[in-house]
Amino acid sequence: MTEERPAYPSLENSSVRRWTPQTFGRDSTATESADDDSFNHEWPACWEAATSLLKWRKPHDRIVDEENAPFYRWFVGGRLNAAENCIDRHLEKRKNQVALRWEGKRGERRTYTYYDLYREVSAVEAALRELGVEADDVVTIYLPKLPELPIAMLACARIGAVHNVVFAGFAPDALVKRMQHVDSSALVTCDGSIREETAIDQKRKADTALASLEESLPTIVVDRLGASHGTHLGANQYDYDDLVETHAGADVTPVSRKSTDPLFHIHTSGTTGDQQRMTHATGGYLAGVAWTARTVFDLSLGTTIWCTADIGWITGHSYAVYGPLLSGATAVLVEGSLRYPDRHRPWKLIERNGVEIFYTTPGVIRTFMKWGESFPSSYDLSSLRLLGTVGEPIGPDTWEWYYTHVGEERYPIVDTWWQTETGCVLISVRPGIDESKPDSVGPPLPGIEIQVVDEDGRELPPGEPGYLTIDRPWPSMLAPLEGDRYWVLAEYWQAFSDPRADSWRYFTGDRAVVDDDGYVTILGRDDDVISIGNRRLGTAELEAAITTVDGVTEAAVVAKSTGGETTLCVFATLEQEQRDQNAVGDAIADAVAKHVGEFARPTSVVFTPELPETYSGKTMYRLLERVINDRSLTNSDALRNPEILGELATIWNRE
Ligand code: PRX
Repeated sequence: MTEERPAYPSLENSSVRRWTPQTFGRDSTATESADDDSFNHEWPACWEAATSLLKWRKPHDRIVDEENAPFYRWFVGGRLNAAENCIDRHLEKRKNQVALRWEGKRGERRTYTYYDLYREVSAVEAALRELGVEADDVVTIYLPKLPELPIAMLACARIGAVHNVVFAGFAPDALVKRMQHVDSSALVTCDGSIREETAIDQKRKADTALASLEESLPTIVVDRLGASHGTHLGANQYDYDDLVETHAGADVTPVSRKSTDPLFHIHTSGTTGDQQRMTHATGGYLAGVAWTARTVFDLSLGTTIWCTADIGWITGHSYAVYGPLLSGATAVLVEGSLRYPDRHRPWKLIERNGVEIFYTTPGVIRTFMKWGESFPSSYDLSSLRLLGTVGEPIGPDTWEWYYTHVGEERYPIVDTWWQTETGCVLISVRPGIDESKPDSVGPPLPGIEIQVVDEDGRELPPGEPGYLTIDRPWPSMLAPLEGDRYWVLAEYWQAFSDPRADSWRYFTGDRAVVDDDGYVTILGRDDDVISIGNRRLGTAELEAAITTVDGVTEAAVVAKSTGGETTLCVFATLEQEQRDQNAVGDAIADAVAKHVGEFARPTSVVFTPELPETYSGKTMYRLLERVINDRSLTNSDALRNPEILGELATIWNRE
């Protein structure tokens, strides 16, 4: 029997788009800062370029310390403070420039200049100190997307305390685990938040979590819902506004931190399995983020960027908070769902705030596609000049839609590949410099060396799919605490390294293919694998075959096991819902049989308006598995579109 070749996206047929420095804007910062060959040739000295974007209290003695590889330490000997870099540094020349524009769920708007941020962050810092928080203590922040969230992060950074942001949608149990993991010594939360029409009692969730901890932790409570909510503050709980008022005018010098000191903990998102604690170190993380903010997102003084990610995920840390503020830019922060109160919200937001750079996930773009182009076309989006995407493969159809209907066939798209662990973007085209290919992420950024390897770690030639690895360390890389090193070594470094030769290669956990130009296409996670007919198939490979069918925008494949036999079930979304679903279902089954093999022909195809997706843009396979196994569906806190659960169960039972 001949093995049929799986359906990998074909790079040869992709239409290449090029934005020259002239079309993107000749004087763009990205063009200046990144068109620099020395980056690839003078490693690691090239990374001085990134450190020069920061203000150091003391310059480093060594760029990278490889002694304890793979636990590399960056900019050793250097000292700096993250909050000073994000705020104080801008005060002299642009204190009245807007740093944050916030829009709430009920249409409220707030604007913070750099000076406003300085005053409020300083007051919160003084309050935290009074509550006993010191350098190296960990403060957990459990807030929805309110301005107080970045303010609390920066207040921690000013003291040298380590922040640990936990996504506000998580349940008390999830919060407890994440607080215990990091030995948190204080909590910042709020009274409640609003989801569509309903108020969610955030404080009750926080109180439940606090009650199961051994010690009583000082807790600061932000008033989001106003007096009518009647929040009761218990022992060791303090009202945020009272604290800010009491400490108004506080002026405490930011603590000088070692470059290698931790800046924050964050838990990896994961759609399956347990969450794990990641840690990022101050100097390396900030240098990587500042450099990519400039090179990939073209952020500079006064640029307005809207990154839709929740701050509970790394994307929000790096490009909704640190990247914009380090660059002296304006960050737009939006509370709540993009569809509430209606589908006009995202476009109104871009128009009203003069957003120049819009950064989101393929899942959000697909939702926009489904709503239709009449929404973006009804607004003046001419302030935009760069679009970004992250989190999962975007695919050529979604790319084209984004380019045509949001980008007005003019603005570059940066498809950015990175991870919680990498801290900043590592693979992406640079606007104004590199050509774009709609079915590929792009080349690794200067200074980053990737390799696609086979099971034995041998480098594969272009066109051959394999495991995506990173060959050299990079500044914003994971910087695990002593106690995490064992599992970090096993999870990321063991598979493809040769410790005896002191040769270390980071395994991303992704499968990928590189083309002749060095452009990378991501084929999905290595663990998204289904075993059928004694073969291991990547879900991304099956899904790529399915989306070759005309009119199918997105697909997720899950396996059902009955009596030892595994069958495949496809969940798919259509460009136009009214299409003849039976015919499309047959075409999907045929496409899988043709591109992957008859043995993998799916037994059922279910059409759904959307796939369930996490806030960080990942399809929740776990929920789809529960649907096909007729198990009860409970709302998951990480789910971006919970309304889809009811619809999915109904559709499945109708089939
Ligand atoms: O599988 C890759 C996918 O998201 C994973 C990292 O997830 P997380 O740590 O939650 O960080 C998400 C945001 C940085 C990667 O291992 N991924 C990320 N970006 C892309 C992507 N897959 C395809 N294309 C991308 N641009």
